[in-house]
Amino acid sequence: NWSMGNYIETAIKHIKETVGDKKVILALSGGVDSSVAAVLIHRAIGDQLNCFFVDTGLMRKNEAEKVMATYGEHFKMNIECIDAEARFLTKLAGVTDPEKKRKIIGHEFIEIFDEQKKRFKDADFLAQGTIYPDVIESQSVKGPSATIKSHHNVGGLPEEMEFELLEPLRELFKDEVRKVGRELGIPDHMVDRHPFPGPGLGIRILGEVTKEKADILREADDIFIEELRNEELYDQVSQAFVVLLPVKSVGVMGDERTYEYTAVLRSANTTDFMTATWSHLPYEFLGRVSNRIINEVTGINRLAYDISSKPPATIEWE
Ligand code: XMP
Repeated sequence: NWSMGNYIETAIKHIKETVGDKKVILALSGGVDSSVAAVLIHRAIGDQLNCFFVDTGLMRKNEAEKVMATYGEHFKMNIECIDAEARFLTKLAGVTDPEKKRKIIGHEFIEIFDEQKKRFKDADFLAQGTIYPDVIESQSVKGPSATIKSHHNVGGLPEEMEFELLEPLRELFKDEVRKVGRELGIPDHMVDRHPFPGPGLGIRILGEVTKEKADILREADDIFIEELRNEELYDQVSQAFVVLLPVKSVGVMGDERTYEYTAVLRSANTTDFMTATWSHLPYEFLGRVSNRIINEVTGINRLAYDISSKPPATIEWE
């Protein structure tokens, strides 16, 4: 019979015994799984855990600050923010093919992992937020997104890495991970977050990724999410975000003609992310989000709402 208190106690004891006086490194993405794994391991071994957060330049607005504030300042964990924006954006310059973008991003993550490994060469363990569905997924046939996911989770490590893996969430389902996170005192707004793909905004900026576009998309996405939270709609949908199209259209602002980007609001409801329906968000709500984004975000003058289900569409646009 699964009980929270027991689980945490047993996990902490197990981590302590496994790690002993050795060191552990962990890539903390700010997502639920890696965050819960980090806090749990930190509970067990404190400063023997070293975390790093990779700012790819493709993260949501203020993400690095939020992660550093929550896990560095609040939980007092050893965590370092690695500013890798220039590296990622340089590698992505001129690339428009979605799978190429994924490969480049996945590869860059691995390089950074490798560098961190060298930096922490006295660490013996690499901790990961692998959860039970990841374990199952890695044993079955992989689609394009599953393959990329594996870079961040199960079995994607280059062979020359000699870490032992520490995966304290390996037997848990997502809702159990969230419960553990809450019990450990991780704030609700971090535990209840929608999933965010490893390649980040890189696959939500259709076509070529540039800093200008990433900045525009970050602002628009932040407004959509803020409004969903304000209206208590955030928890009613499974995943919501904005997509920036490589399409400009004509608009009018005051007496000026504008020629700016078109963006799309995407919100999906799903239980397993394999099939999904578009969220039936209220018209007034959509109208308000549209007004705010078009008025407040320089660079976007037109917004559309995605009403496609999966299949045949996917949740992401790339
Ligand atoms: P799709 O677009 O395939 O997305 O319907 C299903 C779920 O998977 C996420 N996703 C990814 N996650 N790396 C990830 O870590 C990826 O390359 C990737 N592609 C899609 C997507 O956000 C959704 O939750």
